[in-house]
Amino acid sequence: MSKNRKDDHINIAKSFKKKSNMFDKILLEGTDLPDLSMDDIDLSTEFLGMKVPYPFYINAMTGGSEKAHKINEFLSKIADHFNLPMVTGSQSIMFKDPSSIDSFKVIRNNHKGIIVGNINPNMTLEQAQVAVSTIQANALSIHLNVIQELVMNEGDRDFRLWSNHIESVVKHLNKPVIVKQVGLGLSLKTIQKIKTLGVKYIDVSGSGGTSFIDIESTRSAKDYSYLNDFSIDTAQALINLKNEKDLEIYASGGIRHPLDVIKSLILGAKACGLSKWFLDLTDLEFAAAVKKVEEFIEDLKKIMLILGVSSLKDLKQVTYNIV
Ligand SMILES: Cc1cc2nc3c(=O)[nH]c(=O)nc-3n(C[C@H](O)[C@H](O)[C@H](O)COP(=O)(O)O)c2cc1C
Repeated sequence: MSKNRKDDHINIAKSFKKKSNMFDKILLEGTDLPDLSMDDIDLSTEFLGMKVPYPFYINAMTGGSEKAHKINEFLSKIADHFNLPMVTGSQSIMFKDPSSIDSFKVIRNNHKGIIVGNINPNMTLEQAQVAVSTIQANALSIHLNVIQELVMNEGDRDFRLWSNHIESVVKHLNKPVIVKQVGLGLSLKTIQKIKTLGVKYIDVSGSGGTSFIDIESTRSAKDYSYLNDFSIDTAQALINLKNEKDLEIYASGGIRHPLDVIKSLILGAKACGLSKWFLDLTDLEFAAAVKKVEEFIEDLKKIMLILGVSSLKDLKQVTYNIV
């Protein structure tokens, strides 16, 4: 990825406004007799098999430019402050431009907690190992983005090695590997294939938030918005996977506020990734950003209390209506 492309993505993603999505159609019932206090609420869970205090994380965004370095520096300090897992942006650029390495290393310099590397499936097992070791990552994410590549003039056109690379990385990396989309949603067809490759963790990363079709359409001034037809809303992607037993499922794409997190967990997600929400925090002073995350955590607890539920595992029993 070119340095400018990364900066374009940041600027264009920031300019998009919040929109309605399928989480708005999922309605929950509250109770005025929860028999609980705020102190009873426990938000702790596991992320890729590792203990974490909260069910959300900073999802993949950036690296490779000066602007990306600053964003990673800011967000990794937030991640460290709250012990949130942080997924890096695509590390592919490290292999083309070694000067970009520091914009990824800065994350480990600031954050003692869980870091997840990020590559595309063109990368070989050896490159995946380098990506992980460079930032001492605890896990690796691999992003699938065929439509994004195809709508970019400079994007990939040959996807023959993707499945083989994923299979080999999952088998030999010796770290948890999560396969994610980039905001258009993993289709059931993709997920069936992913399972045959040995993958255990997926982030559906559906539509309803950042759309790379819209970002690339803005960059190239060619309107590809009709391809959003292929996208799968995050809430719908979770509902489609209701009976899935072999995979641990993570949710991202259009998680706008704490209620979207709670709805995702009710729909079966283990935890939620937020990109745009955290990107918007980078406009603030550090103390103001910390306050926003504190409020987010407090509001997660408030919603649990409204539902009369004290632990995340009990959310799975909460019923919902789709309107
Ligand atoms: C500026 C920006 C850059 C991104 N770059 C990457 C990337 O390098 N690798 C990746 O896996 N996903 C990338 N994503 C996709 C996000 O991880 C996420 O899947 C998507 O933005 C949907 O989440 P959101 O609606 O909370 O933004 C990027 C998102 C944004 C906003």
